[in-house]
Parts: sequence; structure tokens; C-alpha cells
Amino acid sequence: MARVAELLDAWAAEFGLPDGERARWRAAGWLHDALRDADPEVLRPRVPPDRQGLPGAVLHGPAAAERLRIDGVDDGEFLRAVACHTIGSHRLRRLGRALYAADFLEPGRDFEPEWRAGLRDRMPHALDDVVREIVQARIRYLVQRGIELLPDTVAFWNALASP
Ligand SMILES: [Fe+2]
Repeated sequence: MARVAELLDAWAAEFGLPDGERARWRAAGWLHDALRDADPEVLRPRVPPDRQGLPGAVLHGPAAAERLRIDGVDDGEFLRAVACHTIGSHRLRRLGRALYAADFLEPGRDFEPEWRAGLRDRMPHALDDVVREIVQARIRYLVQRGIELLPDTVAFWNALASP
């Protein structure tokens, strides 16, 4: 989470965002995986009804967003970014797309380090192009293994692929 927050802070700074916005971007990095280690079946009844059918591995995003909302966070873009950081959503805007990218590109992950370092080098200014490549790679991975695609992921791809 620290590495994701660090990347988001650096990107927010490169975009020239004011300090308050930078803090908001960092907070998304710190909070998005707050419930990652919780038992998915404990989280399932605590997410909104339209999310309760999601696979266990991706419930921690919607659960963290719902918990923050109950605790008084009313920043819709922020909550959506946290909720959809794994599955994506066509409703993700700059912060949500940046969190999606940072979570995938943070240097602590050990798969395809060279490809991911190349994508990091193009951030944040090629944000949409980089996110498109990540979504494409994730979808390819799932399809090759015969794993079902979630509607939000497909809608995210369609939003990125459309001119
Ligand atoms: Fe996560």
C-alpha cells in the first residue's frame, strides 16, 4: 500500500495537482487494500447488494469503499476508485484509473518486471494508454485460462477502446 501511495503521490505531483489533491491520491493508495486480508465471506454481506455476487478475491475493494462511505466519506470518485481498483469500471475517471494502474505497476510485484517498468516510465502522462494495455493484458490472461470476465471489466475495456 505504501508503494501504491508513493506512485500516486508522484503522479499527482507530475500532474501539478495541489497539495490537498495529492493527499487525496495518496489516501486512495493507503486505503484501497485496507480489507484485503479479511475473509471474503465476512465481507460479502457488507457490500452493496449489486456487488454481493462478485468473486471473493475482488470483494475487498467494494467492502473498503462501503466501509469508508459508512464512516462518512462522501467523495464519490474516491469511493468508486477504491471499490473498482481490481475489476475496473467504465465510470473510473483520472483518480480511479491512476489507482488501477498504480496497483498493477507498483514495483513490489514480481511478474513481468521489465514490461511493467516500461509502463511506469510512461506514467502519468500516458495514463489512458497505459491503463488500456493493463486491461488488455488482464483480459487476455483471464480468457486464456477460461475464466469468466466480469461485466465491469468488459465495460471498462469498452470505454478505453472506444475512440
Ligand atoms: Fe486490492
